[in-house]
Amino acid sequence: MNNRLYFKDNKRLYEDKKRLFSKIEKERTHIGYYNLPKQNINYILDFADSFDKSIDTIVVLGIGGSSLGAKAIYEFLKPMEELKRKLIFFETTDPINISNTLKEIDISKTHFLVISKSGGTVETISIFKYLYALNQNSNLYTFITDRGSNLEKFAKEIESKVFYLPDNIGGRFSVLSVVGLIPLALCDIDIKLLLKGADEISNSFFNDGKFKDILLNKAIFYAKNQNRYNINCLFAYSQTLQYFTEWYVQLWGESLGKKQRHSSFNVGLTPIGLIGPKDQHSFLQLIMEGTRDKSITFIKLEKFEHQLNIPNLSLKHLESLDILNGVSFHQLLTMQSDSIIEALTNEQDIPLDEILLPCVDAKSIGALIYYYELLTSLVGELLDIDTYNQPGVEAGKIILKKKLENL
Ligand code: PA5
Repeated sequence: MNNRLYFKDNKRLYEDKKRLFSKIEKERTHIGYYNLPKQNINYILDFADSFDKSIDTIVVLGIGGSSLGAKAIYEFLKPMEELKRKLIFFETTDPINISNTLKEIDISKTHFLVISKSGGTVETISIFKYLYALNQNSNLYTFITDRGSNLEKFAKEIESKVFYLPDNIGGRFSVLSVVGLIPLALCDIDIKLLLKGADEISNSFFNDGKFKDILLNKAIFYAKNQNRYNINCLFAYSQTLQYFTEWYVQLWGESLGKKQRHSSFNVGLTPIGLIGPKDQHSFLQLIMEGTRDKSITFIKLEKFEHQLNIPNLSLKHLESLDILNGVSFHQLLTMQSDSIIEALTNEQDIPLDEILLPCVDAKSIGALIYYYELLTSLVGELLDIDTYNQPGVEAGKIILKKKLENL
């Protein structure tokens, strides 16, 4: 993976970078996600290897950090890989979605993963109740939760298998733990390669590699310009990254939108997920001529397996578009993003950077995920917030429970 920043590296930031890096190194001793790239995954691989071969569908019941990460990785890899099993997500209490998703499932060939860190999230438990009422065979369910949660107690009661989240890993930072690895491994996604990608970014950052400077520079730029460039757009030039942008929106929004630790100011950076070229024909106008409050990160794929060319076909009245003849769709997509980057660079007051992913594989997405987790931690530290809690989300959960109690 590569990352080119088009905004200036200010050499005077040397002391800022040193301070920030040492704070993150300290945080690394107690925040769990930093160590996930080096975790032992043999027990997960054994579980996947010995899994019932007649099961062809894995259903995830979870929401937010308990589903978005696995979904981002699965949807990124699905078009390119022959996966052993299908992964389906129940992540909404919308009855239309529940009924329709159920229609996709043959229960005799399905296994359900009930994923909830807290073990008490209303969305997840209500959907679980619905499915459990349909079939109470405890072998159909595996639970992933925190040790000691009420969901763990229930799982033990019905003698289902339980996996535990490691200590100190918040929901949206949990994709590279059992939360993401179990569903992905059951679909035969190469989770070793996924962690290898994450580990490369981790090594590069913590051992003076190129990502140390890139990430520190980028984080400092975002934090110093938080009032001017308050909106951070991720413009991904591949449809396969659509769910990755959703994961990014959750990670960035839920981690960085907070009250400051040492003041009562509310701060935050607003994430936007865009897909090219589709959003060139919608949101781009706002970037190009709207208020100068947005930074843009482009994500591009360097290699596509699918070699599709536009045929050498001249169409009557459309001869001016013969310039397309013989061009590959990959070439076209790259030229489209390059043209937008050039146009935006000409504007001079829109901060840009470009992330290049080598190809659609587990290593690339593992690297991208870890890159964004690190960037979020760095920006959170500079904004003087607790990156890992979510009191705003919790507040809504508490009120909902009260409303239900009063029904
Ligand atoms: O990032 C977070 O902490 C949240 O988005 C949670 O993942 C989400 O609320 C689901 O919580 P739980 O996994 O406890 O069911």
